[in-house]
Amino acid sequence: MGNNLLKGKRGIIFGALNPDSIAWKVAERAHEEGAKITLTNTPVAIRMGETNALAEKIDTIVIGADATNVDDLTNLFKESMEYLGGKIDFVLHSIGMSPNVRKERHYSDLDYNYLDKTLDVSAISFHKVMQTARKLDAISEWGSVVALSYVAAQRTFYGYNDMADAKALLESFARSFGYIYGRERRVRVNTISQSPTITTAGNGVKGFDRLLDFAERMSPLGNASAAACADYCITLFSDLTKMVTMQNLFHDGGFSNMGMSLRALEQYEKGLHQDCACGSANDDYPAADEHRYD
Ligand SMILES: NC(=O)c1ccc[n+]([C@@H]2O[C@H](COP(=O)([O-])OP(=O)(O)OC[C@H]3O[C@@H](n4cnc5c(N)ncnc54)[C@H](O)[C@@H]3O)[C@@H](O)[C@H]2O)c1
Repeated sequence: MGNNLLKGKRGIIFGALNPDSIAWKVAERAHEEGAKITLTNTPVAIRMGETNALAEKIDTIVIGADATNVDDLTNLFKESMEYLGGKIDFVLHSIGMSPNVRKERHYSDLDYNYLDKTLDVSAISFHKVMQTARKLDAISEWGSVVALSYVAAQRTFYGYNDMADAKALLESFARSFGYIYGRERRVRVNTISQSPTITTAGNGVKGFDRLLDFAERMSPLGNASAAACADYCITLFSDLTKMVTMQNLFHDGGFSNMGMSLRALEQYEKGLHQDCACGSANDDYPAADEHRYD
């Protein structure tokens, strides 16, 4: 049930691929809160995914755009303003992809063309979105731009690979662009650092099921769900958070401030008398040279 927190607001939501996507939940919640939004994704994701079904459900349109392509983004903002009938009040950047993760390249043996792609899709696209919007003066005063991040931007997580570097850059863009956009047009820019969540992108991370379990045991409130993340996004799009900008906001049940929890410790103790299998011939922890530091 909505509370009209976004009544009269116009938004653009990137990245709703299927009902598991965090952006999908955000779009549904924004609609429920009275916003009018357009949806966008890459043409191939629109063809292969379920973005059109969501558009039908919340009575809107899907505008194809590769977020790394400035012409596509220009068209997206222009078409959205035309369809929604005015400037945009909020934008959700919910985009992530790493060819190095997909192809299981080890972090100490990255393919640099893939790294370029990871950074472009997962981080630089955020800058492109803001730069394009600013040039078109497409975002209203006190508008809100949010991107989704992960705690691997600050701390090292096994298996997160070059996405960690992309997230660090993404959060930096929120500060650097947030300064300019804030001073000039009172547009606020933030990132939300979300718990591990079962989605298409999440499942691509090596050892994701164990990461999910570990984070659940470590976080006093447990892992934050995609639906809870959507609620948090709504507050940032609303007028209730007008003075929040240039922040990386942890939405992770407390995980980021934990060192060790009893639940995680007890689980760890169960395996204390067994030798760690890393470095040995084991399907889960391959002995191959390139995995020596996993
Ligand atoms: N799932 C998690 O555990 C988790 C945790 C923290 C942060 N995040 C972040 O949340 C965001 C959304 O991911 P998700 O978990 O909902 O997965 P998802 O796979 O549902 O969403 C990723 C989206 O990025 C889109 N995309 C990829 N390349 C694109 C491009 N060039 N242009 C435009 N869109 C493109 C995909 O089509 C897809 O819709 C990502 O930034 C991700 O890193 C996810």
